[in-house]
Formats: sequence, structure tokens, C-alpha cells
Amino acid sequence: MTEDKRTCAQSVREITGRMRRERDISLQELGLLLATKDREGISYLAAQAREETRRIYGNDVYIRGLIEFTNYCRNDCYYCGIRRSSSGVQRYRLTQDEILSCCEAGYGLGFRTFVLQGGEDLYFTDDRICALVSAIKDRYPDCAVTLSIGERPRESYRAFRRAGADRYLLRHETADGEHYRHLHPPELSCAERIRCLRDLKECGFQTGCGFMAGSPGQTVETLYKDLQLIRELSPEMVGIGPFIPQKDTPFGKEPAGTLDLTLRLLSIIRLLHPRVLLPATTALGTIHPGGREMGILAGANVVMPNLSPVSVREKYMLYDNKICTGDEAAECLSGLRERIEGIGYRIAAVRGDYPAEADES
Ligand code: 5AD
Repeated sequence: MTEDKRTCAQSVREITGRMRRERDISLQELGLLLATKDREGISYLAAQAREETRRIYGNDVYIRGLIEFTNYCRNDCYYCGIRRSSSGVQRYRLTQDEILSCCEAGYGLGFRTFVLQGGEDLYFTDDRICALVSAIKDRYPDCAVTLSIGERPRESYRAFRRAGADRYLLRHETADGEHYRHLHPPELSCAERIRCLRDLKECGFQTGCGFMAGSPGQTVETLYKDLQLIRELSPEMVGIGPFIPQKDTPFGKEPAGTLDLTLRLLSIIRLLHPRVLLPATTALGTIHPGGREMGILAGANVVMPNLSPVSVREKYMLYDNKICTGDEAAECLSGLRERIEGIGYRIAAVRGDYPAEADES
């Protein structure tokens, strides 16, 4: 090993050790971890993240049944395949009965969390969402309901909570105002996004923020701001997947985020926030066939198989080649289970709430 390589390996180890001990990272350290070619150092980073996950969650991987219930969207985000101005998209909405059938199938498979995700579709008024949430909670009182339906006024969030929703996912996408403007049309703002996240926390939701790894215009500086926001907000969940271009969007020709960058970020977030619920996302499974398993081995502890009716799956194409008929699908849970067990973990058929703080941490 050359002198140079040894120094580099030590620094990755040093930074990793400090993150684990002090739950802290500097901009410069982040830059080094994301740029280093030291594979050995990076496997050490992943191994340390894995140990933290194991300390909190043991071998359990939590599953969430994802129901993509509408692909109508009033927003026009430059990266997203179901943006308002994508005319090639066949729009659909599931009825309450169809959604309940998804839950029924999911419950039978062992799911105890249902994630209702959709575009920002105002057909689903607060009343309709509340009715839906109550209907699910009535039938499945032992299950958690997660909403992922975008920005709404604080009063709507309150109503969703009163109706029984437990969790809410709203990726912040980037914590840097200028980068936010690069990814979104002028009517959307970073400040409003963060307002929503704070309201969600205040309403008592287990709240998830997150971002795409390798989105156009992302830099070490914007990523550092993401980490600072996560620290400040202290979310229960953080969703991270690689950016993948969708050909009909303004970013259709931009390069995809890499597997490697996504895995490093997962490990870093695990070490900084040991208890956080961290999914190995569908996007990670899309850029590499073993991506989700690699995500778990880098510190993720959640997978979200698709419970949507097969007939609508290909209409929820946020990005090109999104996987939707293979092992990631809920009906192939046995295949997924084998793969998870193959890397030394097991799927836990439980709600999988955010764990209470242990004495030592
Ligand atoms: N590549 C990867 N992820 C995407 N999302 C939207 N479009 C893309 C894309 N092209 C993510 C966003 C959004 C979540 C539902 O999907 O981060 O918050």
C-alpha cells in the first residue's frame, strides 16, 4: 500500500469513527467520504453503519406495503415522470374499495404498514383522505397508515392525524434554496416544503424527509445542508434513492445518480442518526438488481414492496425502467424474503415504529 493510500484509508476510518462516536460530520469530511476511491475505507463505513443498525434493530428488516393510489399531480417538478405537463402519462385514481382490496391482500401477506402514496391530486380532498384513513384503521387497527401525498395546509395535516394516520413521508428534495429552484418550477419553494415538514412533526406524525442522490445540480455543499436539515428536523424516517432520468422530463438527458453515492449516503445517515428508519428504495433496486440488498448492507432497514394493482403499476413511472413486476412486488414477498435472508436478515411482519430512545444513546 502506498503512503498516500494508507493516509486516505485512515481518514475514512477516522471520519467514520468520529461520526459513530460524536454523531457529527463536517463539510470537508463529507466531501472526503463522497470523493474517496478507497474501497476498503468505504466497506468499513458500511460495516460500521450495519453494526449501528444491528444494535438498534437486530436482524429485522421492516416492510411497508406501498399503494400508489393516484398519479394525477398538480405539480410540475422537473425530474418527475408524473409531473403535470407529462402528456404521455395515462392518469388513474384508485377507488376507496380498490385501495381497501390492496390492504386486504397486503394484510394477508404480513404487511402491518400501508403507505398511501400519490401525486398532489386535489380530487382527494381532506374529507376523502380522512374517510380513506378511517376505513383502513377501522378494518386494520393493528396497522400503521402512512400518507405520502405532498404539501397541504397544517389544518389538513391535523385532520389526517385525527382520522388516524400515523406517519407522513414528504421528501424535502434539497435543503438548498437555489438547488430547490433548479429542480422545481417557481411556484414551489424550499421554505414552504420545510414549513410542511415542521407542521407534520408538530401534528405528531412520525415524519420522513429525504432526497434523491445525484439529482441535477446537487453538490457536496447542498448535501451538507441536507444533513443539517435532517439534524435540525430530527425526522423518524429518511428516504434516499438515486435520481433516475425519465425521458419525457426536462431532466431526461441528465445522468443518473450512482449506486455508490446512494450507498455512502445511507451509511452516513445511519451513523449520524442511528435509530432512523431508512428504506432501501425502489429506485435503488432499479439502478442495480441487487441494489436493495446492498442498501441494507449499507445500513438501511426498511423495504417498501409495491401493493398497487398490477394494472396501474406501469402508469406510476416516476423515472424510466422503474421496477414493478419482479421481486420488489408484494406478491413476490417470498422471493424478497429469500434474498433478505440470503444476506443474513429477516423480514419482520410488524408495524415497525420508530424505536424509543435507549438509555445509552
Ligand atoms: N428519480 C428518482 N426519484 C424520483 N422521484 C421523483 N422523480 C424521480 C426520479 N426521476 C422521487 C422524489 C419524490 C419521490 C416520491 O420520488 O424524491 O419525492
